[in-house]
Amino acid sequence: MAEVVIVANEQAAGELVARAIRNLIVSKPDAVLGLATGSTPLHTYRALARLLREDSIDVSRVRGFALDEYVGLPAGHPESYRTVITRDVVEPLHLTPANVRVPNGAVDTIETAGPDYEREITEAGGVDLQILGIGRTGHIGFNEPGSSFGSLTRMKTLTEKTRADNARFFDTPDEVPMHCITQGLGTIGRARHLVLLAFGSAKAGAIAAAVEGPMTASQPASSIQMHPHVTVVIDEAAAAGL
Ligand code: GLP
Repeated sequence: MAEVVIVANEQAAGELVARAIRNLIVSKPDAVLGLATGSTPLHTYRALARLLREDSIDVSRVRGFALDEYVGLPAGHPESYRTVITRDVVEPLHLTPANVRVPNGAVDTIETAGPDYEREITEAGGVDLQILGIGRTGHIGFNEPGSSFGSLTRMKTLTEKTRADNARFFDTPDEVPMHCITQGLGTIGRARHLVLLAFGSAKAGAIAAAVEGPMTASQPASSIQMHPHVTVVIDEAAAAGL
């Protein structure tokens, strides 16, 4: 059963989760963080950058693994998750760039990119704390409905709903890639602590299905119910369906 924490707003959630990550890094200087993109974790990253700076915490050995990446965007594209993770996480937190990995979305090597990424995560000793957002389709990472609970990092096709939701980051909706590479539900489930964040009424249905609904591949986030250590941090609006 997930621990559900209802907070006043995104800022409060960011403070709470940032404190947990700060404490993890203090107790384990080479902690492995699972990183999410999207707008949901931005307050967490900002609060964490401030806490690390205030307390002069050494982060040179902290490692990170992003959940997912678009397939086929040119290197350096402003909306590739490699670019986003560098801009929103690596630079503000002053992490060591080589310590932070993102799945490789290059088309030429997409067949081997999944197994390569799995190996890297395993060699790092696994993820200590995985930050998760949730899509309106119930996706975590980019595991759209139909993803098997045992799935590992692989290429997936994005749903129209997800492409429409993410169109706000691109100049035109057509520019949103059709495909992605994402850690699987099985990969995510191996992290030692899952922290799922969601805010706003648009996420209420997905949160209710994830936390209390039947466990089903049509609601990929319901896979968190199998995990022994899950913390769900949400606002009142996202909690409305619980
Ligand atoms: C994105 C990402 C997910 C993210 C989710 C929600 O497309 N691939 O990792 O959690 O969809 O996004 P947002 O936080 O912007 O609502």
